[in-house]
Amino acid sequence: MKTINVELGDRSYPIYIGQKLLSDKSIIKKHVTSKQVLIITNEVIAPYYLDLLLSNLSDKQVETLILPDGEKTKSLEHLNIIISRLLKNKFSRTCTLIALGGGVVGDLTGFAAACYQRGVKFIQVPTTLLAQVDSSVGGKTAVNHPLGKNMIGAFYQPISVIADTSVISTLPGRELSAGLAEVIKYGLIRDKKFFEWLQKNISKLINRDEAALAYAIERSCINKAEVVAEDETESGVRAILNLGHTFGHAIETALEYKEWLHGEAIGCGLLMAADLSYRLGYLNEATVATIESILMEAGLPVKNHPRVTMQKMLENMKVDKKAKDGVLYFILLESIGKAVITADIKTEMLEETINKYLSRG
Ligand code: NAD
Ligand code: GLY
Repeated sequence: MKTINVELGDRSYPIYIGQKLLSDKSIIKKHVTSKQVLIITNEVIAPYYLDLLLSNLSDKQVETLILPDGEKTKSLEHLNIIISRLLKNKFSRTCTLIALGGGVVGDLTGFAAACYQRGVKFIQVPTTLLAQVDSSVGGKTAVNHPLGKNMIGAFYQPISVIADTSVISTLPGRELSAGLAEVIKYGLIRDKKFFEWLQKNISKLINRDEAALAYAIERSCINKAEVVAEDETESGVRAILNLGHTFGHAIETALEYKEWLHGEAIGCGLLMAADLSYRLGYLNEATVATIESILMEAGLPVKNHPRVTMQKMLENMKVDKKAKDGVLYFILLESIGKAVITADIKTEMLEETINKYLSRG
């Protein structure tokens, strides 16, 4: 087992990474110091892993809440269901919430923990690759509003993250590839050696080799933990974690958050960020081709979706611009392993990048 610390003073916490961690009573027991525990999960994950988690907590007063699967569960309505369950069972401020699931369950549970009685402890037990390398670490918690994704939320850190690599065995292939988009992102933004390792080991990851997965999760979490420790609330450097996301979010919005997974849209976004970096003279064509080929080997659909158009891309990207006082910032690559934050890209250049993407059938 590997342990990585997220260094945030008195709110620091460990991330445990390893095989069969859910079968290891000692880890969860060390962090659940309260009598009252609420486990929040969903109907897909519960049949696989809930009993295993429960078996480690037999001496506690444990409530379980099994929510519907899907992004729609990240809502105020489901937040209210969690709070009601806590109140009906007279859970006090010393209770612990456990998120057993992917980013949806993790973001919702984290926000519920931030809200209940002004903040109770919570533990992340991420079960998707995306959650293990990204959403469970760093304390961004939220629910969606009908007018915007993640629009109601808080920065609120867990007390520990338990990433059991064995749970990846049941994850659908598309979800695995979507998580790999975020893994590749860490190599691109700040870890060239890791990117080179990924180039050699991507097929092992696709084939769910547990040792390779553990290493990729570890390197991803080390990178994320360092960035979060430097800039917890994203007033500066944390923005580099959004490489490819301005393009990716525009694609997701054009597809109304249906058909493609977040990581699939981000995969295309990473390639568009690389293309724009090439147009600005940072990257050469061969480097863009290298990035394209690793994304394809990771099983990501690096091609245009027919419902995405130039007009939709530009319109959706304007929303990003409005959110930042009229300036559209891009995270770009100076080289593999070095991200830069750039403002005021010429519209013609941006259109060239989008056109190049749209021409990929
Ligand atoms: P998800 O939580 O919807 O999980 C994906 C699918 O896999 C679901 O159907 C889920 O039930 C299933 N699943 C989960 N674990 C499984 C397992 N081990 N075996 C079989 N099936 C399993 O999606 P996600 O990609 O994990 O997370 C996406 C969410 O994360 C979005 O809401 C996004 O906004 C959020 N997010 C948050 C952050 C953050 O920093 N907080 C970062 C990135 C993404
Ligand atoms: N997923 C981006 C962040 O945590 O900042």
